[in-house]
Amino acid sequence: MRISNLISIDQFDYFNKTVLLRVDINSPIDVKTKKIINENRIQKSIPTIKALIDNGAKLAIIAHQGDTLDYQNLIPLYEHAEKLSLYLGITVHYVDDVAGPEAQNQIKKLQSGEAVLLGNLRYLSEEVSTFENTVKLNAQEMLQTHLIRGLAPLIDIYVNDAFATAHRNSPSMVAFQELKPSAAGILLYEEITNLNKVMQNPERPSVFVVGGAKISDAFGMMKEVLSSGSADHILTCGITGEIMLIASGFNLGSIKEQFLKNRQLDIFIEYAKKYLQDYGEKISVPVDLAYCKDGKRQEILTKKLPAEHMFKDIGSHTIEHYRAVIKKARTLFVNGPPGVYEEPEFSTGTRKLLKTIAAADGFTVIGGGDTVTAATKFIDLKNIDYVCTGGGAMIQYLSGQQLPLINSLEKAFKRDSIC
Ligand code: 3PG
Repeated sequence: MRISNLISIDQFDYFNKTVLLRVDINSPIDVKTKKIINENRIQKSIPTIKALIDNGAKLAIIAHQGDTLDYQNLIPLYEHAEKLSLYLGITVHYVDDVAGPEAQNQIKKLQSGEAVLLGNLRYLSEEVSTFENTVKLNAQEMLQTHLIRGLAPLIDIYVNDAFATAHRNSPSMVAFQELKPSAAGILLYEEITNLNKVMQNPERPSVFVVGGAKISDAFGMMKEVLSSGSADHILTCGITGEIMLIASGFNLGSIKEQFLKNRQLDIFIEYAKKYLQDYGEKISVPVDLAYCKDGKRQEILTKKLPAEHMFKDIGSHTIEHYRAVIKKARTLFVNGPPGVYEEPEFSTGTRKLLKTIAAADGFTVIGGGDTVTAATKFIDLKNIDYVCTGGGAMIQYLSGQQLPLINSLEKAFKRDSIC
């Protein structure tokens, strides 16, 4: 998509205006203490918040925390407000109400340059991630939801900076744009600009490292970057690499193949065959794999397969081959760790490839929860040119699919540039 079709935040005058800002500060939470364990998204939301406050906005911030499948993460946002206050150097008040009387009162009381963070959006059933699948309202129909009815009458301008939630067709993401002048925040611009560098005319050679266990993400993205020509080379690893091996005619042995079947991952073998048939010269598959025997890491060449092991990492020959390709790349994108990096003896592939990527001359982008967590463990993130805050949203964008948030901001852009 073209960012020229969005209204940037410098297009409006915010002085004394009530502004509603949607951010994504959904953060990993420690199961026991319920404390935030990674502040990356909070930090990345600061430039837009600061710009709005510095320009005299009366700022109400909305955000979600947690998902419905992982209930322990659905918590109030007190700590998020504390962290925002620390980064901004001003107090961001918190009210544990999303769009009811208390939230409305707090918004009405705001003075120019003040900010309040409202309650966790996912207290509202309208906002949960299954919304788009089960109810499927369009943005106009969403105007009847509690959130929009409660907050829209109080605000002058809507700003969205939540790229990581851009794939969610929920009221907080797509409906305020129907009613209010709407702008894209600084982070949203930054994310799209950097992902576009990977997708549109990347510097060549352009290399994608695709690992991890989220196979549907990996396959959707591979299809797009191979067919569009964005990828010159795909280095497959993790479960993606194993599916590619099976599609290339290797028999991984009954333990691993049953494991893939039990998780219904074998359905991707047919797609893998097609990709190999159409773009085989661009796709590398592992030449060796690592497994555990008597508590120790062992490796086996794929040409010696089948073998009855639970493979958990790429082997040292694959690592060396992939490192050589990475060193020559001018554009590098990484999604999904190559191995079970949480177990020290199977972290070698992930650690070595990430270190090579961090030292590479090319433009480097990483994204996705697992990849960023692994990178935080093994390298200094400062050595990566761009760390995307998105997981699902990033993959959807890189898979060439439409993002509801972007569509709604483009619609507002068209409406407001005609007026
Ligand atoms: C994310 O963590 O990917 C975003 O915050 C969206 O969250 P969700 O996948 O629970 O909708």
